[in-house]
Amino acid sequence: MAIKILGTGAYVPEKIVTNDDLAKMVDTSDEWITQRVGIKERRVSETETAADFAVNAAKEAMANANITADELDLIIAATISAENICPTVAGTVQNRIGATCPAFDINSACSGFMFALDTAVSYIARGNIRNILVIGTERLSKLVDWDDRSTCVIFADGAGAMVIAPGEGYLASKMFTAGGDDVIKIPAFGGTSPFYTNEKPAPYIFMDGQETFKFAVNKIVNDVKEVIEKAGMTLDEIDHLVLHQANTRILDFAAKRLKISKEKIIVNIDKYGNTAAASVPIAFNELAKSGRLKRGDTVVMSAFGGGLSSGTCLIRY
Ligand code: UT7
Repeated sequence: MAIKILGTGAYVPEKIVTNDDLAKMVDTSDEWITQRVGIKERRVSETETAADFAVNAAKEAMANANITADELDLIIAATISAENICPTVAGTVQNRIGATCPAFDINSACSGFMFALDTAVSYIARGNIRNILVIGTERLSKLVDWDDRSTCVIFADGAGAMVIAPGEGYLASKMFTAGGDDVIKIPAFGGTSPFYTNEKPAPYIFMDGQETFKFAVNKIVNDVKEVIEKAGMTLDEIDHLVLHQANTRILDFAAKRLKISKEKIIVNIDKYGNTAAASVPIAFNELAKSGRLKRGDTVVMSAFGGGLSSGTCLIRY
C-alpha cells in the first residue's frame, strides 16, 4: 500500500551540551544520566527555531530524494515546540524552500512524526499526489524547566524529514491515543486575560517518568507485534527497528521482550537525547546514511509519549 521513501534528511543545532555541563547546573551526574537514560550529550539551540531546523532537514531530504520544491504536493510537520502558533512550521518550510503546496502541522507529542507519516499515507491513498514532505522537528529546550533535573537532562533539539511518494512500502500501521493528562502534560501559555480566574500553570514539560516508562515498553512490544502480524509477517523477517529514542533501557527491554537482536535497533540517544517528534526521523536518517539500509529491507518505526499516544508502522524500504 501507498508509499515509497525517496529521501531522508536531518538537522541538529551545533551546540553540544554534555552531561558534565548539566551537572554544573542541576544536582545530577554523568553516571546517573548514562546509566538511567543512556544519554551522553545532546544538541541545544541558541538562536535557531524548530522551523529553522525543519527547513534544513527538509532541504537535505529533498536533495537526497532528488526532487525540487515545485514537485511537492503537501508538507506536514509534527511538532510541539514551534515558535509561532501561526504561521505553522510546515507553512514556514513551504515559504522558505519556495514550494506552493498546502502545508500544515500535527501535534501528537513524541509520536507526532508517526501520525504525520500515517496522515501522509492517507493523502497518497486518495490519489493525485506526487511527493509529500513529512517532518518532525523540536526545540524542546524552550519547554524544559532548566531547574528540573528529571526533565532537563533528557529533552533536546533537532529535526528529521522524509520525502515520500506513491509506492508499495507501507505494510501496516497502528496509531493509539489515551488522552489523559496525568502522566505527561505541557501546559500552553496561559494568556494575560484580566478576566480569567483560574491559575495559570507553568508552561513546562511535566512527566511521570516511571509511568511513561511502563507505557512505552508495553506499547512498543504489543504494537510492534501487532503491525507485523497485520502485515502477515514474523519478527524474524524484520531487518531494522527505528524506535523513539527516549531511554536505552526502554530499547533494551523492547529487544529482550520481542526476542530480537539489539543489533537491529538503531540507537543514537547517546548523541542527541530525546527529541520527541524529531527522534524517529533523525534515527531513520542515520540508518539510511549508515549504508546498512538496503532497498527492500523491512523497517518498523515506533514512537510513544505525551497524550499518552503511540504510533507504529512497518514499511518496506
Ligand atoms: O519522550 C516521551 C516519552 N518519555 C519516556 O519514555 C521517558 C520514560 N521514563 C524514563 O526514561 C525514566 O523514568 C527517567 C529517565 C525519566 C527517570 O529514570 P528513573 O529511573 O525512572 O528515575 P526515577 O524518576 O524513579 O527517580 C529515581 C531517583 C529519584 O531520587 P530518589 O527519590 O530515589 O532519591 C530522583 O529524584 O533519581 C532521581 N533523579 C535524578 N538523579 C540524578 C531524577 N532525575 C535525576 C537526575 N540526576 N537527572
